[in-house]
Amino acid sequence: VDQFTRESAEEFFRIADLMQPIARRQKVSRVLEGAVLGNLFFEASTRTRVSFGAAFCRLGGSVCDTTGFTFSSMAKGESIYDTSRVMSGYVDAMVIRHPEQGSVAEFARATNIPVVNGGDGAGEHPSQALLDLYTILTEFSRLGKLLDGAHIAMVGDLKYGRTVHSLIKLLALYKGLKFSLISPKGLEMPDYILDQISKHGHVVEPSNELKDMAGADVIYTTRVQKERFAAEELEGYSPQFQVSKAVVDQFCGPDVIIMHPLPRDSREGAHDLSVDLNDDPRLAIFRQTDNGIPVRMAIFAVLLGVEGLVQHSLRDVTW
Ligand code: CP
Repeated sequence: VDQFTRESAEEFFRIADLMQPIARRQKVSRVLEGAVLGNLFFEASTRTRVSFGAAFCRLGGSVCDTTGFTFSSMAKGESIYDTSRVMSGYVDAMVIRHPEQGSVAEFARATNIPVVNGGDGAGEHPSQALLDLYTILTEFSRLGKLLDGAHIAMVGDLKYGRTVHSLIKLLALYKGLKFSLISPKGLEMPDYILDQISKHGHVVEPSNELKDMAGADVIYTTRVQKERFAAEELEGYSPQFQVSKAVVDQFCGPDVIIMHPLPRDSREGAHDLSVDLNDDPRLAIFRQTDNGIPVRMAIFAVLLGVEGLVQHSLRDVTW
């Protein structure tokens, strides 16, 4: 997300708005007809993989969709450099998810075709942050609120949760925010991210208690990324960090927006976002996932240089 300024992000969201009739299946467009996407996912994914693929298809392109390490010859020791060079002869753009931080940038350095970071280990998840910011701006517009001056509470695993690493940097482009960064001990937001946003002059308050979300305009919860660290580090993580209806009602008002990048962990003993909020209109998680399609369409349109063609390409659906 370091590539974005506030102005370029908002210009980008105007392109995402153009994509909404296609995302809502009211119009069709084939501006990417003939183009092929390589969707290379070396880690599990539902939303990112399928919504990037669906976004490309809905613009008329085709997708080569792959998951896991065994699909590729990296299982036989092939390097990221060779894999990327080879793929760039086959496809017009790539989306990569990979367990190692920095690996997607390595793919990108090896090729001239566009490479999109679909999540690199505990590093970043920029397309998720873009759709999150798009969702916040849309919800604030509905509520008649401005993002400048807002109070954002981020809750959960802020150390390994890559979505919050990207999102806090995008939000920091706005003015006068207060960030309550609420995490269990040991899972705090990394210093290198805090150092990066410190120049913007926001109020940043790390905390280990849910009560510090009091008065927040946005609660952004995250799953504990158990796949990224040893189980013993989890000691001290307890239901006290679960965002439930009782917690939201105790600390926040009727206009708070409750977000989560998903997946939320629904297994016994997992604590992030309670299902007792499912019917609460403040819960924006499925509005977030829906926004993944127009935002990811906009990413492809910009990267492949067709954003100016979209408006005139729209046709009515015939099905
Ligand atoms: N939010 C997100 O990245 O979800 P997936 O892991 O299902 O792609």
